[in-house]
Amino acid sequence: MKQTRDEAVALFKEFNTSESLYTHALSVEAVMRYAARQRGYDPEFWGMVGLLHDIDYEQYPEEHCVKAEEILKERDWPEELIHGVVSHGWGICSTVEPEHEMEKVLYACDELTGLITATVYVRPSKSIMDLGVKSVKKKWKAKGFSAGVDRSIIEKGAALLGMETGELIEMTIEGMKTAAQETGLAGE
Ligand SMILES: [Fe+2]
Ligand SMILES: [Fe+2]
Repeated sequence: MKQTRDEAVALFKEFNTSESLYTHALSVEAVMRYAARQRGYDPEFWGMVGLLHDIDYEQYPEEHCVKAEEILKERDWPEELIHGVVSHGWGICSTVEPEHEMEKVLYACDELTGLITATVYVRPSKSIMDLGVKSVKKKWKAKGFSAGVDRSIIEKGAALLGMETGELIEMTIEGMKTAAQETGLAGE
């Protein structure tokens, strides 16, 4: 791929001003890189898919995934990256199913990073570094906690990967830890 991470960051910032969307992009990027390393794939490529997956969300929330495809095509980003980006909205804003392992990881961890971030915010330490799977599972079960996080999508993602939800949570926490400083999850 000819594009670099710096170009992906610049493109993201061209379309998004929200700090929380950027931290979300960084969290998903970190998990994607972590999972790629674990599975023997290219962390640079997986990371960029994570970084750009919500590129159109701030400006085109009603056309999420549709506009992303347009923007990325226009600027000549690779077909595989675009397919990955669009497939994260499978059944929500797109009909493109996650096929590649990379796409399944993205689909599975996207919402989960939101639940984990919310869990960290209510911890006394405000840190992800000492966060265990159990604490996230507790919040998962708590109706009303981060009600916007659709647990059924995460379950569907885990099933696509053939993972237990506990394993998926663990992988996502470990991945997010690698970007804890940049995402403000390293505690006070
Ligand atoms: Fe999205
Ligand atoms: Fe997202």
